[in-house]
Amino acid sequence: MPLNILVGTQWGDEGKGRIVDLLSARSDYVVRYNGGDNAGHTVTVDRQTFKLHLIPSGIIHPHTLGILGNGLVINPKSLLTEMDMLTNAGIAVNPQRLKISYAAHLITPGHIALDKAKEAARGKGQIGTTGRGIGPAYTDKAARSGLRMYDLLSADQVGAKVRAHLELINHQLVTQYTAEPVDIAAVVADFEVYAQKLAPYIIDTGALLDEALNQGKVVLAEGAQGILLDIDHGSYPFVTSSNVTATGVFTGLGIGIHAVGKVTGATKCFQSRVGAGPFPTELDGEMALFLRGTGSNPWDEFGTTTGRPRRVGWLDGVLLRYARRINGLTDLVLTKLDVLSGLREIQVCVAYRDAGGNEYAVPPMGVCDLETFQPVYESLPGWQADLTKVRQWKDLPEAAQNYVRFVEKIGGVPVSLVSVGPERSQVVEVPA
Ligand code: IMP
Repeated sequence: MPLNILVGTQWGDEGKGRIVDLLSARSDYVVRYNGGDNAGHTVTVDRQTFKLHLIPSGIIHPHTLGILGNGLVINPKSLLTEMDMLTNAGIAVNPQRLKISYAAHLITPGHIALDKAKEAARGKGQIGTTGRGIGPAYTDKAARSGLRMYDLLSADQVGAKVRAHLELINHQLVTQYTAEPVDIAAVVADFEVYAQKLAPYIIDTGALLDEALNQGKVVLAEGAQGILLDIDHGSYPFVTSSNVTATGVFTGLGIGIHAVGKVTGATKCFQSRVGAGPFPTELDGEMALFLRGTGSNPWDEFGTTTGRPRRVGWLDGVLLRYARRINGLTDLVLTKLDVLSGLREIQVCVAYRDAGGNEYAVPPMGVCDLETFQPVYESLPGWQADLTKVRQWKDLPEAAQNYVRFVEKIGGVPVSLVSVGPERSQVVEVPA
């Protein structure tokens, strides 16, 4: 079936970029439906590493057409920088290959200043946002005071609209947060340039996708972040401001309910989280250093967008079951199996225990109050072999195979693929 969806089953950073890259070899359209440049997707092809924040990672395949759907909030400056980066790397980005929904919202420097001012005002209750203006842009959208890509199409009115928007934000910045106002004249001038550059890309992408799906074209929806950061289903309030789950695809793309093929969950072999919020299986000390890496490789556990070291911990099977249910997952891609090589034993959280000793196989009230639970672990034997050159299931050590089968059992969903390194070719298909 033509519409396939890839989502993160954790707190983002599951390695979705490289999976999209693989799946898009078989897709005609690669589309983003949520978030903005808070996302960071890393793809390594022939030792060349791309870090993408807005443009769907599948655009690296020359046959694909990329779409930024209406569910996004787009910083035009970041978008143009990313377009230039790809063009300089020899990847064509032009209005024939990239389309932007007229209904996607714009992020302005006013939103970014507000994001930072609000975080500072939260004090100890900080969310740890990426500081990209995501929350304030979605707030403006819901408050019906946002600027949309459509506004860039009226060249003679862009300046006035951006000015009016910034006057409101500056008032808030100065009076509510005693923060510096943004330079309105400079931002207006920039947006007039962005309007000129981006206008040829702006269309009704929902109509284009509907037609494509009806013609049997294969569309890959690339989720940003992961379910535990979803505005409705994540560990609120330590979440992002969009619907990141599979069901967000339809509103975020402006298409009706079309038949869905696969809903693939990207799951890292361990959990990671950037920013604040509960994390039941979090580790510190030597084990955390082992899982995180030193930062010397682009795929070590440091934020693609912010460079912050990620918090890390054991795989949480309770949250994986939750991700399966909310997304309706058909299969999992398990990433970074190679990172576990060298461990004598590997822990997987199979249940939660509360202060009264009650055990839960699934979170009792969504992912509320996760900090009140203790993880119940099952321990599996590790393996010593380096997996980075393995390409066939039969060549994986028995302990690694057993680990993959255990994840299937705990998650209640089959694993279709495991990754054993950052390169496009470093994957192993998992037999049913
Ligand atoms: P915001 O999306 O910048 O508002 O940040 C809200 C929360 O989501 C923070 O904890 C961020 O660290 C987290 N977050 C946002 N985008 C990503 C991502 O792509 N990967 C991992 N964490 C993210």
